[in-house]
Amino acid sequence: MLAIIGGSSLYALAAMHITQRVDVGTPYGAPSGALIHGHLSQREVLFLARHGEGHRLPPHKINYRANVWALREQGATAIIAIATVGGIGAAFAPGTLALPDQLIDYTWGRPATYYDGDGSGDGGDPVTHIDFTQPYDARLRARLLRAAHALHESLHDGGTYAATQGPRLETAAEIRRLARDGVDMVGMTGMPEAALARELGLPYAALTLIVNAAAGTGDSGNRVDLPAAERLARAAMARVERILETVVCDGG
Ligand code: HPA
Repeated sequence: MLAIIGGSSLYALAAMHITQRVDVGTPYGAPSGALIHGHLSQREVLFLARHGEGHRLPPHKINYRANVWALREQGATAIIAIATVGGIGAAFAPGTLALPDQLIDYTWGRPATYYDGDGSGDGGDPVTHIDFTQPYDARLRARLLRAAHALHESLHDGGTYAATQGPRLETAAEIRRLARDGVDMVGMTGMPEAALARELGLPYAALTLIVNAAAGTGDSGNRVDLPAAERLARAAMARVERILETVVCDGG
């Protein structure tokens, strides 16, 4: 069953027929909120709002381990993560939908693994390294691209996502450094979520919506207009939801 993690401005799926809300406990504590079971385009799906209901949780306080664990426990076999981001460069202008193919993790202090080295990890092995060369699942990415194509919706194929700590936005100098690192889009929640999904063997892909030019770039030269970013996110999320409605029909 496909699971969808909704980010800022996506706290529920309008077209989802909800059958059950489940409060799940995990060995890592409580997830962000109830896990929502239901159907989207007649297919079973699972939904979780990453920031909780009413956007309670800032990015660094989200219990990513509990979220990913709970989704798997409730039957998720793959995860599509939705996130709003800041874009760097003309190809990642506000309003663009993107499907990153790489990431760089700049976060710190977040519990970021199920393998803490004390034997409590899911695999039972005290020291476990996972391959993360390709952080996003190729088949899931291909499904998202097919869905967007079928809808004549443009979806930028590829790009490097940077996960920053937040909750503040970046300085212009930090964005210049990220650009030098090869980053195309900046968000605060993509890690450790993606790595945790890999640790549990769950295919994971991120679908991002660029809601502002990153700090110091484009029309964010002097400041990032956050209310404008929020308005764009709310208006454009319907496009994301249409892609999700289409992607669930394509099991391959
Ligand atoms: N930076 C970090 N996270 C974000 C941004 C940004 O500019 N926009 C939306 N999420």
